[in-house]
Amino acid sequence: MGTIEGRKPQVVLVPFPHQGHITPMFQLGAILSSRGFSITVAHTEFNSPNPSNHPEFNFLLLPDSLSGCESSYMNSLNEILAINKNSKERFHEYMVEMLETQEQHGQVACVVYDTLMHFVDEVATRLELPTVALRPNSAAYLRSDHVILQLQADNLIPLPESQLQDAIPTHPLLSIRSSSAIIWNSVDMLEHESLVELQRHYKVPIFPIGPFHKMAPKFNTSLIAEDTSVITWLDKQAPNSVIYISIGSLAIMDKKELIEMAWGLANSDQPFLWVVRPSSVSGSEWIECLPEGYEELTRESGCIVKWAPQKKVLAHPAVGVFWSHSGWNSTLESMCEGVPMICRPYFADQVVNTRYLTNVWKIAIELEDPERKGIEKTIRTLMRDKVGKELRQRALKMKQELELSVQKGGSSWNSLENLVEFIMSFTQ
Ligand code: UDX
Repeated sequence: MGTIEGRKPQVVLVPFPHQGHITPMFQLGAILSSRGFSITVAHTEFNSPNPSNHPEFNFLLLPDSLSGCESSYMNSLNEILAINKNSKERFHEYMVEMLETQEQHGQVACVVYDTLMHFVDEVATRLELPTVALRPNSAAYLRSDHVILQLQADNLIPLPESQLQDAIPTHPLLSIRSSSAIIWNSVDMLEHESLVELQRHYKVPIFPIGPFHKMAPKFNTSLIAEDTSVITWLDKQAPNSVIYISIGSLAIMDKKELIEMAWGLANSDQPFLWVVRPSSVSGSEWIECLPEGYEELTRESGCIVKWAPQKKVLAHPAVGVFWSHSGWNSTLESMCEGVPMICRPYFADQVVNTRYLTNVWKIAIELEDPERKGIEKTIRTLMRDKVGKELRQRALKMKQELELSVQKGGSSWNSLENLVEFIMSFTQ
């Protein structure tokens, strides 16, 4: 391929259509755009981003046949299958069109795709277009997947009950990919060992250039409207006093859990800012199943909203603890602000992230007893005990180290330099 003089090289991004996946892909787009690439986002109709919020990107609409589909983790497998089946042909047509008009618009350097959108790989291979995979979650999570696959291959699953809590010895890794490289929303200092091991396995360059939100110019990627009044509420609270609670964009809890959370928070005697996403409590539209009089009782100490500007909330000096489902974006956002966490994982990577947060990085406590007494005890431990103080100190140290990794000469900064060079090599 020859470089097309005077035109920015083009990079096509294909995100999986959920908040926790769209956010890092758009942040990556902003990073690459600031490094001189022209960005085109191919997105589904389902959970479609609003193109007018991102005038710097071009957008291509992919058919998916998912309209009216309820957005939840339980539906994820059906969504993945439907999108991979229904979007492929249209994506192929778009790519052919882009390749035919490269002279006017700039050379198509590569396609960066979320690994759940594997139809991209098939189309790109057909057109001899290079692809780069984006992993929006931790390296440790992929590594854990490999271990499980190997245990299955060795006929060791199900493990006997007596071994369920044992550490798993290191296993050789499985599986292959046809991408030319993998981009990670992670940082060498956080996941060095996992990244080295995955690098050994995949044999393609790996670029850990996270945390993306600290590498990208600030811009909003929220699919839901943010309630910005929470910042005024936080302004009135004492430093480090508020518990911020959010379980991300997909997890669902039952009514009993919501009620135990409500009493645990009220009884902790700490102010709280609680995000209850609409439809995140099964069988409820929002918070109508809270005990009668609860909102009145906690009017002084509590603030409940549908969706918050999370990064701003975590950066606010009033926030002392983040009670989280341990989604990877939330984890990185909390780490970057030096906020210790209470982890209540629900599924998939959240469980692995929790293990690392509590046992490796040691900046969090896992909520082992999600009943009101256990909640109250965990909050008190973090807010008032020596253990909590130690977690906070480690979290603040981690914040400083992460700041260094995104600055000039830091590992993520260097890795980004290498990535830009790598993508440019496709245009030679
Ligand atoms: C899920 C997984 O849990 C996650 O680990 C995986 O990488 C992607 O899919 P999700 O459950 O949405 O994602 O969690 P998370 O990765 O934490 O992403 C949530 C995003 O929503 C964060 O960027 C957070 O800032 C944002 N958010 C959340 C808000 O902006 N406001 C809110 O009120 C709550």
